[in-house]
Amino acid sequence: MGGINVIELEIVADHESASARVAGCIVEQVRREPASVLGLATGGTPERTYELLVEKVRAGHLSFSQATTFNLDEYVGLQPAHPQSYHAYMRSRLFGEADFDSKRTHLPDGTADDLAKAGEQYEALIADAGGIDLQLLGLGANGHIGFNEPGATEDSRTRVVDLTEETIAANARFFEARDDVPRRALTMGIATILEAREIVLIATGESKAEAVERAVRGPVASQMPASFLQQHPNVTFVLDEAAASLLGSRA
Ligand code: F6R
Repeated sequence: MGGINVIELEIVADHESASARVAGCIVEQVRREPASVLGLATGGTPERTYELLVEKVRAGHLSFSQATTFNLDEYVGLQPAHPQSYHAYMRSRLFGEADFDSKRTHLPDGTADDLAKAGEQYEALIADAGGIDLQLLGLGANGHIGFNEPGATEDSRTRVVDLTEETIAANARFFEARDDVPRRALTMGIATILEAREIVLIATGESKAEAVERAVRGPVASQMPASFLQQHPNVTFVLDEAAASLLGSRA
């Protein structure tokens, strides 16, 4: 196990300010290094961040034309054209709206016949790109990062995982019916995520407060996958006041 580092916290008033802060981190990274390798997340939380990035590109203040991206995860069995696939999410919110080179935007292939091999190939692609410079993460209310659910190990790599009932219920809001939510996903592992040179996690809203508190202050444990981030030397959690609300009591 690596040494324990203090996770840097940036607590802002609300979701809008958190989104602006995270967009700012990505803008800074890409301006400094236009050929940056970015790790990206989906879900509800980063939607506004992506809108702000699109606005920057449209205003001519930023270009992603040389950037390479790797998304954290994709559902198993959803075709890229499926509206709830993460391929479709990224296309409609970011890749199709800004000047990305489609040859350099990557997501795990949840439709591969051999998913284990697809996971290995994804790891190799990340390595060939020189590793991830800046990884953006959201946070599950159960402490997952990517789809590394409770029980995920520190040495895990891109692989197929079973989603927990809690995650299926949380993500049902994006589907017509709960039964439509895929039960498995292909996700980067904890080891994959920890290899990124810098990590920025965004969490907003009261529903994330307990997971934030346990990730930041709790013991490093598989039952709280986000707690593994304590082992990374360059992690920032960007939180709104609601998500940070349980941190004060033991500060
Ligand atoms: C998404 C992902 C997940 C989400 C998490 C939070 O690619 O890997 O870990 O970040 O489930 O989702 P939201 O933002 O919808 O609360």
